Formats: sequence, structure tokens, C-alpha cells
Amino acid sequence: MTIFSAQSTIITRASVALLSSNGLKRFSFSSTALYSPPLPKTKKRRFPIVSAVDIGGVTIARNDVVREDDPTNNVPDSIFSKLGMQLHRRDKHPIGIIKNAIYHYFDSNYAKKFETFEDLSPIVTTKQNFDDVLVPADHVSRSLNDTYYVDSQTVLRCHTSAHQAELLREGHRRFLVTGDVYRRDSIDSTHYPVFHQMEGFCVFSPEDWNESGKDSTLYAAEDLKKCLEGLARHLFGAVEMRWVDTYFPFTEPSFELEIYFKEDWLEVLGCGVTEQRILKQSGLENNVAWAFGLGLERLAMVLFDIPDIRLFWSDDERFTSQFGKGELGVKFKPFSKYPPCYKDISFWISESFTENNFCEVVRGIAGDLVEEVKLIDSFTNKKGMTSHCYRIVFRSMERSLTDEEVNDLQSKVRDEVQRKLNVELR
Ligand code: PHE
Repeated sequence: MTIFSAQSTIITRASVALLSSNGLKRFSFSSTALYSPPLPKTKKRRFPIVSAVDIGGVTIARNDVVREDDPTNNVPDSIFSKLGMQLHRRDKHPIGIIKNAIYHYFDSNYAKKFETFEDLSPIVTTKQNFDDVLVPADHVSRSLNDTYYVDSQTVLRCHTSAHQAELLREGHRRFLVTGDVYRRDSIDSTHYPVFHQMEGFCVFSPEDWNESGKDSTLYAAEDLKKCLEGLARHLFGAVEMRWVDTYFPFTEPSFELEIYFKEDWLEVLGCGVTEQRILKQSGLENNVAWAFGLGLERLAMVLFDIPDIRLFWSDDERFTSQFGKGELGVKFKPFSKYPPCYKDISFWISESFTENNFCEVVRGIAGDLVEEVKLIDSFTNKKGMTSHCYRIVFRSMERSLTDEEVNDLQSKVRDEVQRKLNVELR
């Protein structure tokens, strides 16, 4: 989930016990996407065609965000159509239920209130997304391969940390920011180019740590881990988890929390003690702070037993009707497992080829009908040409796909890959 982390080492492992949760805070959901009339039948699209979206009362037109002929822009329609959906503000949606449960935890465990923000625009400047949180100029996360750029100075936020600095400057000291974040990535059951994060931030003053006799950084790090372990217990009860040391440009020390899920460790959050420079930029000279960023889909997959991240975007009633406001203990009952269809594609790559670009082409054609894209073979011949073979797994979560339909998708993928990615099909 994190793009900023480096290699990890395990430092602790904990098993935790059950705590219940109820009486959650309420937020009303308003549907915010404005749909234009459907395209003529001949142009089949796998996602709604949206002409404009409303984000926090501001209308954003498609042309403001999708510009096919601008090389500094890489936002496809499939991504634009997700802007303004705000799954985190739907009380009966797993993402909204989990957000409310986290609010409840902070409300009942902290005497000093955490302010909540959940309607900040996901369209931010590169300064907010990167510079303000000390992301180095040459960091990979800044590349067009990893981040959606609207133009050279404007991106779709790739993390809720993009709001830390502005909120500090506005004088906020303890806050939770929830929102949709956007990342170009590979395709599998736990990765989707849009997901939801919650950022937590807490500033301490000398009186907080002086009494403890501890050094300020240690004090903040201990408080942070205690807070997040308590949150994990509040949400999951008995679940196996472990802390992993890591690196983020904006915190030191930095940690990740992983949870054991479906026979593997799943990273669910990144956190750490905020770099002093970030506090100084906002006039906080004598303070220390902690911050965390939670991946809400990942938490919800573990909590509700949701096997595939695409399901969060489904409006199939067999999915949506299984969840209720404030109902945290529900386990999702898969309503079907339709057969997958495997298609392989091989090509000679060029220097500019990246897997993220390939996945975006596949997603642009097949939308949520693509379940996974896997590199299954790679070799370099004597002339130095490199060949990749990818296996695309097509599977709908809602119905059986016909052979004809899948062949049609695959043939479009072949055409488009050749046209857009400068590769030579084999
Ligand atoms: N912004 C980080 C990410 O998305 C998570 C994080 C937030 C880490 C705050 C540390 C502090 O990967």
C-alpha cells in the first residue's frame, strides 16, 4: 500500500483480544457524480461516462482533469469517473462503516477531541502532495508512472498526507483526514487505482512528555503504537499482527503495521514520528507529533472478509445489502464465484515500457472485469530484446462472461497495447 517505504524488518509480533464497538457517529451521504447521457450503443464503455463531478460543492468538468493530448496529463476516464464518489461517506458501505468505527475509537479513547475532515478535494498541488511532506525531488512516487497528473503542478493526491501541512498551518493540532487517494499500480485482488485512506495527526507539547521523563520522540512513538494497537483491537479483536520498521520521507522513526490475512501478511497502515522540519514549517518549534495513514479497503477486507477490492465499487445489491450502518461484525457471504477466463499476451517491450502503463490499458478496456494481471514469463534474447508474457485473468463478480465477450476484450487489449505502448506483439 505504501509507495514511500523501503525494505522492511520485523520488530514485534502481537496477538490481540476482542473489544466491541457501537454507537457510531453519523454522516449523511449524498451522491455526487453528475452523469451525462449514455454514449451510442456502438461505443461500449465499462465505466459510467461522467461529464462533471461535484467535490465538496465544487464542480469539476471532465476537461479539467482528463486531457488526452497533453503529455503532462495521464488521468483516464475510468479514474475521472471515481472522483466525487466518496465511498467513505456512505454509512452503509464497508468503507463508511469502518471510518465511523475509527471515529468512535478516537472519540471514546481520547479526552482531547480529534477534528475530522472528509471532504477535502483530492485534486492537490505537487507542493501539497510531495514538497510539503519532504518527498525528495527524485523520488519514484513523483513519476508519471506512479501518480496521476492533471498537469505538471497538479495531481490526484496519492495519500492523505497531502493535507498535513495545510491543516497544521491553519492551526489544527489533532485531526483525522479521510479521503479517496489515487495511484497507478498493478492489478490484483488487493490493488485498485483508487482507494481510501485515513490520516491521523497528533501534536504534543513539552508538558505532555516532560512528566513521563521520556525523550520526546520516544514518547510520541510509544503513544502512536499504543493508539494503533488499541485501534486494531477495537476493530478486529483477536488478529495476528506485526510491526515492521520502514522509511517514509515525512517521519522518523517510521513503522508499518501488518495483519495476517488469507495466509499472508497484509500491510494496513504506515506511521511514524513527524519530521521536525514539517512542524517548523508551521511555526511549531517546541513540539513533537505523530502521524499515521490507514488503508481503509485493506482494513475492510480483513474485517468483513471481502475477497476482492473491486467489490467495494460494486452496486450489485447482493453486495450492498449485506452491510448495515454501524454493523462491524458482519462477514461477507460471497454470492457467487463465476468462472475466470485466462488470456495470455506476449510482446517485445521497449525501454519506456512499464507494467503500470500496461495495467492501465487493460483496465481502460476491461474495467472491473479484469481480476488480475500477472507477469508469467520474461526473457532477453541474444539481440538484447526483452519479451514479457502476461496472463490476464478476466472474471466478473456479477455474472458469467461469454467467450465472445472475453475474446473481444482481449483483441482490443492487443490493439491498444500495440498502439499506445510502443511494443511489438509476438
Ligand atoms: N502517507 C503514507 C502512505 O500513503 C502513510 C503514512 C502517513 C506514513 C503518515 C507515515 C505517516 O504510504
